[in-house]
Amino acid sequence: MVFKRTHMCGELRLADAEKEVVLNGWIAKKRNLGGLIFCDLRDKKGIVQIVFDDNISDELREKADSLRSEYVVGVKGAVKERQSKNKDIPTGEIEVFVSDLIIYSEADTPPIYIKDDDNVDDNLRLKYRYLDLRKQKMQNNLTFRHRIAKVARDYYDENGFTEVETPMLIKSTPEGARDYIVPSRVHPGSFYALPQSPQMFKQLLMVGGTDRYMQITKCFRDEDLRADRQPEFTQIDLEMSFVDVDDVIEMQEGFLKRIFKEVMNIDIELPLPRLTYEEAMERYGSDKPDTRFGFELVKLNDIVKSCDFGVFTNALAAGGDVRGICIDGGSAQFSRKDIDKMQESLKSYGAKGLVWIRHNGSEITSSVNKFFSQEQLAEILGVMGAKEGDLCLIVADKAKVVFDALGFLRRDIARKMGLLDDSKYNLLWVVDFPLYEYDEEEGTYSAMHHPFTSPRPEDIERLESDPGSVKAQAYDIVLNGFELGGGSIRIHDRNLQERMFKILGLSQKEIDEKFGFLIEAFKYGTPPHGGLAFGLDRLVMLLAGEQSIREVIAFPKNQSAQCMVSEAPAPVTDDQLDELGIKVK
Ligand code: AMO
Ligand code: AMP
Repeated sequence: MVFKRTHMCGELRLADAEKEVVLNGWIAKKRNLGGLIFCDLRDKKGIVQIVFDDNISDELREKADSLRSEYVVGVKGAVKERQSKNKDIPTGEIEVFVSDLIIYSEADTPPIYIKDDDNVDDNLRLKYRYLDLRKQKMQNNLTFRHRIAKVARDYYDENGFTEVETPMLIKSTPEGARDYIVPSRVHPGSFYALPQSPQMFKQLLMVGGTDRYMQITKCFRDEDLRADRQPEFTQIDLEMSFVDVDDVIEMQEGFLKRIFKEVMNIDIELPLPRLTYEEAMERYGSDKPDTRFGFELVKLNDIVKSCDFGVFTNALAAGGDVRGICIDGGSAQFSRKDIDKMQESLKSYGAKGLVWIRHNGSEITSSVNKFFSQEQLAEILGVMGAKEGDLCLIVADKAKVVFDALGFLRRDIARKMGLLDDSKYNLLWVVDFPLYEYDEEEGTYSAMHHPFTSPRPEDIERLESDPGSVKAQAYDIVLNGFELGGGSIRIHDRNLQERMFKILGLSQKEIDEKFGFLIEAFKYGTPPHGGLAFGLDRLVMLLAGEQSIREVIAFPKNQSAQCMVSEAPAPVTDDQLDELGIKVK
């Protein structure tokens, strides 16, 4: 038997006083105070206090006595205004006096506390995720995620998009990460790949006349995990026919406006700012800049080009850069030891050192006093816009190393200084990405986005003569230093596509193997098209104010890509392997 619920525990309020209610839930807490038994009863909407008082039957009292944490129960009772109100919980003005109780199931002592701010080991949390999910915060996050997905479906539906499912067992996609592969029983020695994205299929849908496609779909990428990366994650994936960059951007801006209004009650101003890739790198050292704070990069090449400090002049002679950031009020805040730690943290970005200069009014101190006069240091501080009390930090190296190191450092320092304002949502587009990335060691070009990304029309004539200068019709949407989504206008012209492949150094065989079916499809009439994919997990994480996408995924993988609940990946039987024609080394 189940009690038919009339209310959710967490939704009862003073206005419900004197009502007879029926509730179902988990016992969150129990206190026995002489003749009175108080319990917190929990469901996904929150907790409410229930009371077993002197007036109940012996039989009911006996049952109430037997209650333990996490027992699942149903109660019938009367809502009463509380004498001593609890301001900390939304139901704190009332309590429910129980007249009937059913125990649906008993529970062993749970291995983790069901408390939002519980400091439990991550792997234990993930192993007992079903208990972890009982936490209010986790239920709120799941509901919040559902709301965002629903707004997405509504918005794109209203704009003429059709949600179409694309296959999960496919051939490798061109997103550039490692594939998860799935063996085929029917074709021993052949493998499916799980999609890194629906990229090629959504383009085929455009060839197929779908015109506007959307899908909320799982993508799989075998890459190193971080707080904002999971091996399987979800995209809100979009593609449109007969559009240019502005059309795609405008459509997604409408979606972002709607999301911010509906789930955050925040009005964002459109159009969103756009930064070119070049400007983003020059000013922030990153193609996903966090613009909630300053510390912009300053190029010092000119001013140090004839100095006596070999590290700087050698970097310049090798075609590199010298750039720095000025930390307002940073001199007093960061000790010599702090700066040593910063320098250490930059090693993973390839930076070999970190010059510091402190503006202490009349005196300037630095790690390069040996090489620079006070006047020269003052000049550098001047160019960097430093005031008294500021700290300037400088890196000299190849441009990529300098950008990566300072891009990381400015955000890390802002975090340490408490400048990452949670109430600010700085959305912006990064546009005009380079079409190609040049690999110095290999001496080859690769596609920065993917090989179907269209160059800007005005740059096409330089494809062969100066590929490094060609910009793509590609765009990323960035929120507070995270890449929320990215996309491009695709190549729909066969000849252009072939030129693109040639520059990428792909042989006809490789082209046929990797993309043959798409190239074939393009022969039969292809509309101009373009699109974008949002990372749903990241969007939800950022709007929910979480630090990791694992907090907004019901059953995420751990740092080593394992599912702690089901213990995947796991060995399979020899029979299963035999059937697949596979032998494990
Ligand atoms: P891209 O590879 O930029 O583009 O992916 C789009 C967005 O997906 C999110 N994302 C991830 N989220 C969590 N974990 C991951 N491992 C992960 N990888 C990516 C990011 C990213 O911006 N097919 C193209 C889109 C297009 O061109 O239309 C694509 O997949 O938020
Ligand atoms: P040294 O002469 O080795 O004591 O170096 C003087 C300063 O230069 C120290 O603060 C080093 O961290 C810094 N330094 C060394 N290499 C670099 C580099 N490539 N970029 C920036 N600073 C550097």
